[in-house]
Amino acid sequence: MENFDFRNPTKIVFGKGTESRVGAETAAYSKKILLHYGSGSIKASGLYGRVTASLKAAGVEWTELGGVVPNPRLSLVREGVRLCKEKGIGLVLAVGGGSVIDSAKAIAMGAVIDGDVWDFYLGKGEPKEALPVGTVLTIPAAGSESSTGTVITNDEGQLKRAVNSDLIYPRFSILNPELCFTLPRFQVACGAADIMAHLMERYFTTVRNVEFTDRLIEATMKTVARQVALVLADQKDYDAWADLMWAGTVAHNNLLNTGRIGDWASHDIEHEISGIYDVAHGAGLAVVFPAWMKHTLETDVDRFAQWAVRVWNVENDFRNPEAVAREGIRRLEAFFRSMGLGTKLGDLKVGTDRLDEMAGKCVGGGRGTVGNFVKLNRAAVRKILELAL
Ligand code: NZQ
Ligand code: ZN
Repeated sequence: MENFDFRNPTKIVFGKGTESRVGAETAAYSKKILLHYGSGSIKASGLYGRVTASLKAAGVEWTELGGVVPNPRLSLVREGVRLCKEKGIGLVLAVGGGSVIDSAKAIAMGAVIDGDVWDFYLGKGEPKEALPVGTVLTIPAAGSESSTGTVITNDEGQLKRAVNSDLIYPRFSILNPELCFTLPRFQVACGAADIMAHLMERYFTTVRNVEFTDRLIEATMKTVARQVALVLADQKDYDAWADLMWAGTVAHNNLLNTGRIGDWASHDIEHEISGIYDVAHGAGLAVVFPAWMKHTLETDVDRFAQWAVRVWNVENDFRNPEAVAREGIRRLEAFFRSMGLGTKLGDLKVGTDRLDEMAGKCVGGGRGTVGNFVKLNRAAVRKILELAL
């Protein structure tokens, strides 16, 4: 196991009706906030009304900025930064999914600097401070509600890039599983695929003797697979949503990669796909991950076989671990398909014409390679994209 520091400072407020506490949680930081949300789901569901009532009761004044889209855009972030500076905002409250939260985190970093926040996403400098961010989460998926990450798409250049900083851990995140009842089935599936991907990115490591976190990750994967089937069968199954929502947060709050080094190549490759084709992140991962596995299998067949046996209940065969591992990959693909997701680039309407461009952009920025389990160069990324055809 590697040495590690672990601290996740996000306060989680979990359970039925907990959005009524948003005013009090917010007021502890500021009474002048930016209320940030997406394209209307929170108004249709009535959540907007409950959140604003709670803010009002706590004496919090807000300026609104809606309109965040999946794969959140830099142009709206810049508008948010402008509003925060103009109004002297003290906290950014995100009500929605990972896209809204990521946009809020970007605004929080941009509001306290004179320069352009996009520079951080290009790796030019690091944030030194940020406004506090709070969230009311409406979809178990990205894990942004207690992560250091923000992923933004620059409208010009079709570039989707991430920043990671301890400064943008949300100060609090309110998780009411009842808010998931209104999710479209496609978003449920994309969210579960993303959670599964966060677990697999951590699971496939070259670090040895990490049995404890192996077991935690395996348990979380099994939980996600079971609970998503239950919520797809009955969208009002509160208990299944509660498990799925909490699993989604724990999958990405860094507890499960303590002592390990995660891979993250599949995420980097997927970000190139959604940067250009604007596909849902989870749908992209359902295509990239099986292809990545087929390409990297030989690096550590035993680890893949262990995963297949422990997570997907494949019968063990010590004489032929590769067959066991390949059956695990087949079951992962079947899991994605059982939720209605495709596992081929064609399912995303992605053709063959820009594979090379995506591979080049993916390993660009001076990195030269992506991934840690296996370091992938441009040719290897292209090969993985071809395996996904
Ligand atoms: O915009 P609204 O109207 O709210 O609709 C959203 C959106 O269309 C809808 N939705 C969300 N909650 C709902 C709901 N509809 C009905 N009822 C509800 N309760 O679902 C759609 C998708 O929302 P989005 O926020 O895009 O989903 P998700 O949480 O999957 O976020 C995806 C983004 O997160 C990034 C991804 O790259 C992608 O841009 N990621 C962020 C990470 C991080 N910050 O740590 C890590 C992840 O790996 C990921 O890269
Ligand atoms: Zn993800």
